[in-house]
Amino acid sequence: MKIAVFVSGGGTNLQAIIDKIQSGEIKNVEISEVIASNDKAYAIERAKNAGIPSKVISKRELGDAYDDTTLQELDHLGVDLVVLAGFLSMLGPKTVAAYANRIINIHPALIPAFCGKGMYGIRPHEAALAKGVKVSGATVHFVNENYDEGPIILQKTVEVQQDDTPETLQKRIMVECEQVILPKAIQLIADGKIEVVNNLVRVKP
Ligand code: GAR
Repeated sequence: MKIAVFVSGGGTNLQAIIDKIQSGEIKNVEISEVIASNDKAYAIERAKNAGIPSKVISKRELGDAYDDTTLQELDHLGVDLVVLAGFLSMLGPKTVAAYANRIINIHPALIPAFCGKGMYGIRPHEAALAKGVKVSGATVHFVNENYDEGPIILQKTVEVQQDDTPETLQKRIMVECEQVILPKAIQLIADGKIEVVNNLVRVKP
């Protein structure tokens, strides 16, 4: 299965995918290209270090041409799955429609909590602590035209500690949840084990 990985920042989720492909923990999956929303993303270095082609497709620079440019690039690559791994922007409607149920995203909270527009990066963790929730975690879901709304594929939790800061909670969720369930979801899809029925995900045994 060929995948494109979209990134915006540090790229720890990208690194987890790269490492698990290299170790053989993820099988029959190849990253065709890493696509960054900006040229400052450290994830680009991670792609280079792993010998994976990378490209910047910037919504700010492309404006109205962003959606068509993204779609053309994906069609050109011929990828089976698009992985948003720390992608802090939003794909255009044509791209989302053309790749329906073939785009997945990792969100650093338990959807439907602490998600939606503006809830990215450190903010879901700040909101979780402000609410006093006792568990938080991460969600992998299919992408539709609204933020963090498509069918949920996998979720994983951690307990919130009394002395957590947004940063300590973020780190624990990245390591214990995101870097576990995103590679796992990719493998399940590569193995043909995920189906969407009535807008809900079913995992085949
Ligand atoms: C991750 O925590 C990811 O879940 C989050 O941004 C971080 C990127 O880290 N994504 C979102 O908030 C999307 N709404 P990374 O670049 O090191 O993988």
